Order: sequence, then C-alpha cells, then structure tokens
Amino acid sequence: MATGKLVNVVTLFWILILVLVSQSVSARKKSLKHLEPCRRLVLYYHDLLFDGVNVANATSATAVNETKLGNFKLGKLVIFDDPVTENSHLLSPPVARAQGFYFYDMKTEYNAWFAYTLVFNSTENKGTLNIMGADLMAADTRDFSVVGGTGDFFMSRGIATITTEDAQGIKYFRLKMDIKLYECY
Ligand SMILES: *[C@@H]1O[C@H](CO)[C@@H](O)[C@H](O)[C@H]1NC(C)=O
Ligand SMILES: *[C@@H]1O[C@H](CO)[C@@H](O)[C@H](O)[C@H]1NC(C)=O
Ligand SMILES: *[C@@H]1O[C@H](CO)[C@@H](O)[C@H](O)[C@H]1NC(C)=O
Repeated sequence: MATGKLVNVVTLFWILILVLVSQSVSARKKSLKHLEPCRRLVLYYHDLLFDGVNVANATSATAVNETKLGNFKLGKLVIFDDPVTENSHLLSPPVARAQGFYFYDMKTEYNAWFAYTLVFNSTENKGTLNIMGADLMAADTRDFSVVGGTGDFFMSRGIATITTEDAQGIKYFRLKMDIKLYECY
C-alpha cells in the first residue's frame, strides 16, 4: 500500500472520531437545556406534632429533645408518619404517608434536615419515593433530592421543591412538595 493512501486513511479516521465526539457533546448540552420532568406530582405534607395531649390526632413525636447549644433547637429529632394529601386540606383523604424524621441542625438559626419515604398504597400509585435534604427554613423554597423509588416509582430520581404553606406554632405545619422526576422507567 502506498504511504500516501495510508496517511489519508489515518486522517479520515481521526476526522471521524472528532465529528462523533463533538456530536455527542452537543447532544448532551441540548438534552440538559431542554430537561423536562418525565413525571410531576404536587402533594401536601401535614405534620401534627404530639404535645402530650393530642394522642388521637398527632402523627409525629419528638424522639430526642433539643440540646442547649444555641436557641434554635439544635439536636431535636422528630419522627413522623404524616398524612400526604393531593390538596392542601389536612382532612382530605391521604394519598400517601410520609414516614421518616427531621432534626434541627443549626446553632444560629432554624434549620433542619429531612429524610423520609413517601409510601403510596392507592389504586393510582403503589410504591415508594425516597426523599432527603437540608431544610434551609429562611428560604421561600428549598430543594430536596428524590434519591430513589420502588414499585410504580421504580428507580425514580428527581427534585422535590418544598414550600412552607402554614405553620401554627410548633404543633402543625404544612409543606407543599412539588416533586419533579427526571428519571422514570
Ligand atoms: C382531632 O382533630 C379534629 C379535627 O381537627 C378535632 O375536631 C378533634 O377535636 C381533635 N381531637 C383531639 C383529641 O385533639
Ligand atoms: C426539652 O428541652 C427544653 C429546653 O432545654 C425544655 O424546656 C423542655 O422541658 C424539654 N422537654 C422535655 C420533654 O424534656
Ligand atoms: C395496601 O392497601 C391494601 C388494600 O387496602 C392493604 O390490604 C395492604 O395491606 C396495604 N399495604 C401496605 C403496605 O400498607
């Protein structure tokens, strides 16, 4: 084979590689730019804290009391099995349970960390979504990570944008969860 031909073939090979690499890079950029959730659920989380009296209605309880470090309840751990509804009314029929915990974790302001599972057991949805993240309470909206799922939410991942809609002292608060899944199977 003549050397000239070989050089041509090698050049052609590298040009081909270059085109393929640049195409895959631009495809990735495009898909990020146009990333839309493959599934979206707006749900409401109701936390009714046990105050020593409301045994019938409470769905969460303090398991570990706050420490004396700072004035923002640092160390207080609350475990919950809270109702999750499709609209913002506490008494509407729950579509899921939120089972998990949060604890206060900041010395200089109110801040918490949440980890919980949304357990779905209705005709519409069966399965779980696992959610965790920092609740930076001073911010209007916070983003929790949807780290996985089972059943109808098999291997799902995404973002849950959290807004506090109502807070009545320490006894009741309601969070709006705007759950956007970017991986659905
Ligand atoms: C439970 O909540 C219902 C509805 O808000 C209220 O009517 C009832 O008095 C509460 N019961 C207790 C034991 O707090
Ligand atoms: C929890 O700690 C706070 C602050 O130290 C205290 O006022 C409160 O009585 C404690 N609660 C319980 C149930 O021990
Ligand atoms: C789901 O609901 C069905 C029907 O109400 C019930 O039989 C079953 O025990 C529930 N499963 C769980 C895990 O709660």
